[in-house]
Amino acid sequence: MTVARRLESFGTSIFADITARAVAADAVNLGQGMPDADGPDWIKDAAARAMREHPNQYVPMPGVPALRQAIADRFAATGGGWAPDPETEVTVTSGCTEALAATMLGLLNPGDEVVVFEPFYDAYVADLAMAGAAPRYVPLRMGEDGAFAFNADELEAAVTPETRAILVNTPHNPTGKVFSRDELSAIAELCQRHDLIAISDEVYDCHVYEGEHTRLASLPGMDARTITLGSFGKMFSMTGWKIGWAVAPPELTKAVRSAHQFTTFCVAAPLQHAAAEALRTDEAYYADLRARFRHQRDVLAAGLRGLGFRFADPAGGYFIVADHTPVSEPRGFADDVSFCHHLIEEAGVATIPPSSFYHDSNEGRKLLRFAFCVSEGTIERALRRLRAWSNESVPDEPEA
Ligand SMILES: Cc1ncc(COP(=O)(O)O)c(C=O)c1O
Repeated sequence: MTVARRLESFGTSIFADITARAVAADAVNLGQGMPDADGPDWIKDAAARAMREHPNQYVPMPGVPALRQAIADRFAATGGGWAPDPETEVTVTSGCTEALAATMLGLLNPGDEVVVFEPFYDAYVADLAMAGAAPRYVPLRMGEDGAFAFNADELEAAVTPETRAILVNTPHNPTGKVFSRDELSAIAELCQRHDLIAISDEVYDCHVYEGEHTRLASLPGMDARTITLGSFGKMFSMTGWKIGWAVAPPELTKAVRSAHQFTTFCVAAPLQHAAAEALRTDEAYYADLRARFRHQRDVLAAGLRGLGFRFADPAGGYFIVADHTPVSEPRGFADDVSFCHHLIEEAGVATIPPSSFYHDSNEGRKLLRFAFCVSEGTIERALRRLRAWSNESVPDEPEA
């Protein structure tokens, strides 16, 4: 009795491991991307009301009609490029996590290949393994300016006759990169030239601090071949609700639903009714969310720079990925995992070692990921601890 071969290499997720270490050391947790300021009370009230006023029974497999309509409307109003038909083009899932799994399981055949940018969100590769498909990696590399970019030749070379899809995540976890319109146009051109499906994970579409979010589906020729994935939990800082969705043309939606119907079938009914109300909130909510997260990013960025970490301010998302070597190497650390463990135990601050987001862990060993989705108070507390640790752990000057 053991784990199935297709999953045994994945072990325990890095988030569970780091959170357990953080709890044991009573560390301030800048590891897992979990907001510590809860979502709005009016949404919780809407869920309580829905629980009393609607039957607490199965709802339609693709989602409650009011929520599917709200998702379609918001997609169209935020640069989707077309107005999806909620009947045939919107599916509500148990978080974007399930949308990803349903997409891969419903769409891919064993032996298919999918282009994945790395560092990657860890579920991507496990989902591909469950579907019997294989990743083809394209690295996002940190440049001299600290920003991440891919090389167009490497992207082109990753496509083979077996390639069926490309997985894009913008804004990107963990780097905070917001793919530019030019970069997405190059990806769109590649998709059309090789007849690929685009899976576009846009869970951080409300968390853009510089420039603007472009939906891959909105680019010419992409509406017919793109599955856009979203997450209510990210939009409203209610990650525990696990409501997500897939927006895609009818044929691709059929594939997503073919797996969704046999995994979860339908998502918690009262939460779907409340999410439908939430998605109808006005733009002021999203502007406030962006302003708050941008401020948290700026506080963390200033503090980390003061300590010597090297990075470009992330244009979106929940995280700063920094080159830790200016801080770690003088103190004798060579890789992200050992330095991360040291900071948990000696500084009392938890981060995530990004080497687990690369297929070749060497690629990530100079990096650390810090979350800024937590409150300013939590970030300040972490920075105070890091400064105290830094002052105490300055290496001795070499003897003359
Ligand atoms: C890039 C990315 N995709 C998908 C998810 C999963 O979203 P959800 O919490 O809605 O399942 C996350 C969560 O951290 C994420 O960062």
